[in-house]
Formats: sequence, structure tokens, C-alpha cells
Amino acid sequence: MLDALLDGVPLMGEVARPERLVAAMRHAVLGGGKRLRPFLLVEAARLFGREDEGALRAACALECVHCYSLVHDDLPAMDDDDIRRGRPTVHRAFDEATAILAGDALLTFAFDVIADPATDEDADLRAGLTLDLARASGLGGMAGGQMLDLLGSAVSCEEADIRRLQSMKTGALIRFAARAGARMGGGSADDIARLTRFGEIAGLAFQLADDLLDVLGDAEALGKATGKDAALGKATLVELHGVDWTKDTLAGLVSEADGLLEPYGARGAILRQTARFIAERRS
Ligand code: IPE
Ligand code: IPE
Ligand code: MG
Ligand code: MG
Ligand code: MG
Repeated sequence: MLDALLDGVPLMGEVARPERLVAAMRHAVLGGGKRLRPFLLVEAARLFGREDEGALRAACALECVHCYSLVHDDLPAMDDDDIRRGRPTVHRAFDEATAILAGDALLTFAFDVIADPATDEDADLRAGLTLDLARASGLGGMAGGQMLDLLGSAVSCEEADIRRLQSMKTGALIRFAARAGARMGGGSADDIARLTRFGEIAGLAFQLADDLLDVLGDAEALGKATGKDAALGKATLVELHGVDWTKDTLAGLVSEADGLLEPYGARGAILRQTARFIAERRS
């Protein structure tokens, strides 16, 4: 679906899609990535019996926000990385200005995709999802978290501050994934709260694992450089508490996630396995 959405044909209301910008956006989005966030959204919707193109569209919108965040995260002014998903970063494959624009256009496109009536016929639900995605992506979510990340250890190495930073820069989009799936699937208020909490735990576990892999991981398997966090003075819980504490904490988060999904019995198996994958992944 991402491949089809990001083609060169203008939509109604668009004038033209410049070939170079389409190519840079396609480089950012296609050909790699675990697709964890869209997977979580689709599986959370499936937990409540929804399995359709609409859920997949919302998942694609979320992946566009994520890919934009990676393009900008890798820029020389940010983490300055040359390799992403085993390939040159967008500013390396194209140039910096094109990478900035590809990020801008992906973020905007995400809202195009999620707000389109093809995502869901219920306009209230679409507006709710759009609002949630905006809050998760922006000032008080991912972008805000990236700001705190750049300020890093110069500002604070307190555990509570690091947790807050992570809940924004990484947690917010992963939380959105699980929550949006539950909303789209028609879960009850309790289901939505439960899946939202599941997303928060998965998000924390995801960044803990990312930070652990930055220390212990294999750059080849990861498809990106390692040892960056220490080199750039990033404040992480791995830096604060060490590798053993992080591994124990990850195991604790996986059992918490298991507990949250208990009411769903066998139907929750895929999401339980996803939490385990997040904590134990090597790439
Ligand atoms: C990397 O995310 C950025 C973080 C938030 C840690 P992923 O590890 O999900 O990246 P891809 O999409 O699989 O490449
Ligand atoms: C990135 O965190 C979080 C984003 C919002 C993109 P990192 O800077 O640790 O991600 P990687 O390690 O470059 O993938
Ligand atoms: Mg970063
Ligand atoms: Mg980075
Ligand atoms: Mg990292």
C-alpha cells in the first residue's frame, strides 16, 4: 500500500509530484524497516475483529510519520548518520535540502492518508485519529522528544527526565499505534485504555532495546551505526543504569505487557509475541 500511495500520480487538489521528491520519499519509506508501528496498529485492530484496508491506511500514515522522523533524525544537524536500513541515508543518497523536504512532505502526506474518507467512513473517528496522530507526532510528542534528546545529558541525566524524553520521542508513535488500532477496531473504553497502556509499555521497551543495541548490537545486522549515543552525549537509561539493569527491566516490561493482554486469551498471542520481539530483537 505504501508503494501505491507514494506513486508519481497527483491526487485531486495536488498540482504535480516532482520526480526527485517522490524518489527521495520512496527511498525513505520503501526497501527496509521492521514496520513495527504499522504492524502494531493492524494487529491491535485485528484483536477487535477489524481487518480491512482502512486499518492498513492508518498504519501507512503512521509509517510515513516514522520514516520522516528517521530522515530528519539522520541529518547532519541531528544525529549525522550515513547509513539507515543498510542503505545510504536520504541526505546521502540525495542531498540535505531534498532530505528536509522529503521529511516535510512525508509528515504532511501522513495526514492526507489518515484523514481521507477511504480510511474510515465515520468522520468523527477520522477526526479523532487525526488529532491523536498530530499530538503524538508534534510539539508534545515525537518532535518535542527529539528536542529533549538533542539537549541530552547537558540538561539532565535524571531517570524521570530520560523516561519522559523517551515516552515522547519514541513512545508517542508506538502508543498511537496500539491505541489507534483499538479505536478503529471498535474496542470499548476499557479496551482502548488497556491497549494504550500496552503501547506505552511497548514504546518504552522499544527505546530501551534500541539504546541497548546501540551499545551491544551489530551495525551490519542493525543496518545503522552503533556507539552513537555515547559519542553524541545522549542521556539514556542504559548509560545511567547499565546493561544488566536494562535487560532486567525489559523482561519486566514484557511480563507487564503479557498481563495487560490476559483478558484477550489466545487472541492476544500475536501482540504478546510482539512485545517479546521488541525486547529481545537483535535488529
Ligand atoms: C528506529 O526505529 C528509531 C527509533 C525510534 C529507535 P525502528 O527500529 O523501528 O526503525 P525501522 O523502521 O525498523 O528501520
Ligand atoms: C530516534 O532515536 C527517535 C526518532 C524519533 C527518530 P535514535 O536517534 O536513537 O534512533 P536511531 O538509533 O538513529 O534509529
Ligand atoms: Mg536521534
Ligand atoms: Mg539517530
Ligand atoms: Mg538509537
